[in-house]
Amino acid sequence: MADGFASRDERAAFIAGLPKAELHLHIEGSLEPELMFALAQRNAVAIPFASVEDVRAAYAFSNLQDFLDIYYQGMGVLIAEQDFYDLTAAYLARARADNVRHVEIFFDPQGHTARGVAFDTVIAGIARALDEARDRHGLTSRLILCFLRHLSEAEAEATLDAALPWLGRIAGVGLDSSEVGHPPSKFERVFARARDLGLKCVAHAGEEGPPAYVREALDLLRVDRIDHGNRSLEDAALVRRLTDAAMCLTVCPLSNVRLCVVDDIAAHPLRTMLDAGLCATVNSDDPAYFGGYVNANYQAVADALDLSRAELVALARNSFTGSFLDADGQARHLAEISAYA
Ligand code: ADE
Ligand code: ZN
Repeated sequence: MADGFASRDERAAFIAGLPKAELHLHIEGSLEPELMFALAQRNAVAIPFASVEDVRAAYAFSNLQDFLDIYYQGMGVLIAEQDFYDLTAAYLARARADNVRHVEIFFDPQGHTARGVAFDTVIAGIARALDEARDRHGLTSRLILCFLRHLSEAEAEATLDAALPWLGRIAGVGLDSSEVGHPPSKFERVFARARDLGLKCVAHAGEEGPPAYVREALDLLRVDRIDHGNRSLEDAALVRRLTDAAMCLTVCPLSNVRLCVVDDIAAHPLRTMLDAGLCATVNSDDPAYFGGYVNANYQAVADALDLSRAELVALARNSFTGSFLDADGQARHLAEISAYA
């Protein structure tokens, strides 16, 4: 075992107790099959599954698009403000159980407004659960509105318009959904407007798409973080640029395995990223679909790569330094990590 851990269990306990932030979590991707069934019944929405086991059996994906087809179908059970509250409260309870102290949550309003659910309904339910977790448990959060990149920039602009009354609740904008064929350049103008409104900017890039998409996210969208970023490793000059800028990558190990971005967890490039000096973090992406929340992601990659105590601490530190917390907030969490380690 690396670095003084006597056993896998000892490392698992260290991971469980490590204070951490989660920076890459799609709230709709935390919809567990049990809640999907309950909401389908509550809202009288038909779903093409007979049982929870049936749902889980359908979660065999060969690529990102396979997953997205099921993901958009699954979120169809979310109709009322209470549904979005229940979804978010359930995720936050799981995050707390993993000793997550701060979360930066994506939501996909266009996955709901396209079905006739109002933007206000979606964000009101999510925000109510976030406020409650902060007030009751001190779990802090930021909300990031994602534009669906398979749709047009005009539709992204309309979504940003709908968000204007909620700007006090939204920390940033992101870009997700089908990557290949929908480069960051397609959204240059709407990201410029978001930035002018004072919003942070992030984008999924280099998950399935080429390093050129990561460069576009940096140059054209002027992002503050890269979500995934795996394929940056194919371009040494890009890696240098990312390390020089201390650009945070929100890496999602179990997602990468389930979506065949990596062949298997033993081939995951997380250590290569850390060794290259990249500010990599560990996140769950869509935990209800990919088999685990944040600690399960740390655990899987730590076991596969025999990650050391120092590497685990670096990952947890990166999760705060890469967050949108202010300097004081980051320093407080970093001090907790130092005390723990
Ligand atoms: N939407 C939800 N999860 C996603 C992922 N991993 N990549 C792109 N879009 C997503
Ligand atoms: Zn994602």
